[in-house]
Amino acid sequence: MGRFILSYNNSEWEELTPSPVNTLQVFITNKCNLRCKACFYAHNLGKEDLSLEEYKQAVRKYLGNIRKVILLGGEPTLHKDLNKIIAFNTESGLRTTLYTNGTNLKALKKADMSKTKIRIGIYGAELSEKPLEDVPSVKFPVTIVYMLRKDNIKDLPRAMRLAENNFNCQAFYISSIRDIAATQDYWKDTAQTLPLGEYFKVVQKTVTNYKGNINELHIATRGVIKTKNNQNPVSKCRFGNVFPDGKKITCPLDISKKVYTKELRFNERKCNKHHECILQKIVLRKIT
Ligand SMILES: C[S@@+](CC[C@H](N)C(=O)[O-])C[C@H]1O[C@@H](n2cnc3c(N)ncnc32)[C@H](O)[C@@H]1O
Ligand code: SF4
Repeated sequence: MGRFILSYNNSEWEELTPSPVNTLQVFITNKCNLRCKACFYAHNLGKEDLSLEEYKQAVRKYLGNIRKVILLGGEPTLHKDLNKIIAFNTESGLRTTLYTNGTNLKALKKADMSKTKIRIGIYGAELSEKPLEDVPSVKFPVTIVYMLRKDNIKDLPRAMRLAENNFNCQAFYISSIRDIAATQDYWKDTAQTLPLGEYFKVVQKTVTNYKGNINELHIATRGVIKTKNNQNPVSKCRFGNVFPDGKKITCPLDISKKVYTKELRFNERKCNKHHECILQKIVLRKIT
């Protein structure tokens, strides 16, 4: 039973049940054109890429175990073979989700989007190191992920309006920044960390008041938010992570601690903090 129960008007929203699948996260490049101050990958940023061949080898190894690949980095749109990587995933029967700061979406102009989702992660509408205002509008569907922290709560409604007006925004995802770059520990808070209770208040207010035209709201549960319908947590880790130097980590939250593993085992390890995966989400779809 979670500590916070998110309520929603069920004549306006229906709740979908996300079905998490085993997912390989591949950090295809250490290059990035930004230096976000809280970035959990900050200590790895540099110049290294995973080559196309290294990428294929890494993915082939887990083909029998996974259904989806998340491409990230660094900034994955800076990888010269990005379109070939996406094509390889699709040919291999895998879905792709690409995490991007949105500054170089032109790199995806010729990409095969048939099995690919794009997630633009932002820290604000106008202010901050990754504002949505700086992201050029594109026609293809995107999910926009708003990473909440103490200093950007007020900018959230403005970001949602920009998402509605300037993008083909299929889903707006609210999550939060942990100051991992500063603390090297996912669980340690800093002055900018939104306490769970405050985070819950912001998402509850957004769900209650939102009247815009984005059809799906996704809410990161942070391991403690539930709804009346959704009380069954995912308890095993469905992730594996591969880096440009070939190293591997099971849980993405261990990245700053560099808890490497020799082999990836999907859906076997129990989540050891809250006894559930804190990367779960609540998905609400507008009833039309
Ligand atoms: C490391 S980034 C790499 C991909 C791309 N450069 C981007 O910014 O989306 C992957 C995702 O993690 C998020 N992220 C980065 N640092 C974080 C942190 N300290 N806590 C939570 N999420 C974070 C980013 O906002 C982004 O959505
Ligand atoms: S969050 Fe993304 S854009 Fe920002 S520094 Fe990290 S990798 Fe680069």
